[in-house]
Amino acid sequence: MQCNNAIVTVDLGPRSYDIHVGAGLLDALGPTIRSVCDADQITIVTDKNVAAHYSKRAVESVETAGFSAKTITIPPGESSKSLAMAQRIYDGLAERRRGRRDPIVALGGGVVGDLAGFVAATWMRGVPFVQCPTTTESMIDAGVGGKTAVNHESGKNLIGAFHQPIVVVMDIETARTLEDRDFRAGLAESVKHALISGDDFLQWHEANATRILGRDPSALSELVLRNCRIKADVVQADERESTADEVGRAVLNFGHTAGHAFETLSQGELRHGEAVSLGMVVALALSVSEMGLAADVRRRAELLLEALQLPIRSTADFDIDDVFRAMSQDKKNVANQLRFVLLKGLGDAAWYRTGVCRVVASAIADVIGR
Ligand code: GLY
Repeated sequence: MQCNNAIVTVDLGPRSYDIHVGAGLLDALGPTIRSVCDADQITIVTDKNVAAHYSKRAVESVETAGFSAKTITIPPGESSKSLAMAQRIYDGLAERRRGRRDPIVALGGGVVGDLAGFVAATWMRGVPFVQCPTTTESMIDAGVGGKTAVNHESGKNLIGAFHQPIVVVMDIETARTLEDRDFRAGLAESVKHALISGDDFLQWHEANATRILGRDPSALSELVLRNCRIKADVVQADERESTADEVGRAVLNFGHTAGHAFETLSQGELRHGEAVSLGMVVALALSVSEMGLAADVRRRAELLLEALQLPIRSTADFDIDDVFRAMSQDKKNVANQLRFVLLKGLGDAAWYRTGVCRVVASAIADVIGR
């Protein structure tokens, strides 16, 4: 395979770490962890689908590097991102007497990464955490940046902690076994990164959409690397999404205010990335009407989403009042106001605060066909 392995460093002072990107890196998982960790025991958290393809290789690799490994396998899907599932993993760690130095490895997509990361952040007040993302969504977004969470029945990711990994290993070959729908869904976060970073990456997507969908190894490698660099820059500037008036890390929530609402209301029908694609269409419409974004940028973004076979209109039967109710649970809201990250231009984001209002209703109505 013609793609070189590369490293992106996330520079966070004492919490700095490297992201290794390349083909076949799963076989180097153990030695890569060994280079940053001198523990004896490792716990690998994965899901049933990922385990079938990659667990054996991951275990062999960490054992070769001198770790004794145990695997905890959870059911696939968003419903596993719960306190009940975290409890099951704590039980497994207690049974195996895992201590403060023993790393937890997340082998899988965003659900596994968020859940295993949350357990790593809280077990014994925090143990070393390793991300080994195997989906486009987690290589492009969730596997980098240290956000960990489980869901509460009233909303997504409401219980969580920041806990940076000690290293991230992305084997782009693992994305080749994804179902088409899951592969494509993850690309929505890449379009988001393009829109928030500037015209260069947007043009790259426009020129390479067919190669990306064809899972061309060098296109995938470049896609993942460029996304990691963009995300690393954002996280380095605002690790804990702490700035109140500046958008800071919250720029990564572009498309997520309505997107999370669509995802919650679809009750598992929409993939996270599909919901974010719809949420970005809402945010783009608001960006044009409220922030003066050029209509051409909105048109290009929607054409790109379509070219990547992501939804720009919902086929589900959403009720607009339900969408507003779900958006009212968003973590970004302040003083009962909805907060959207919108674009004034490519790579130029700003907050938009509002109540329930006609412009937002109309942007949502266009997407849900009401
Ligand atoms: N996925 C958004 C963030 O990492 O901040």
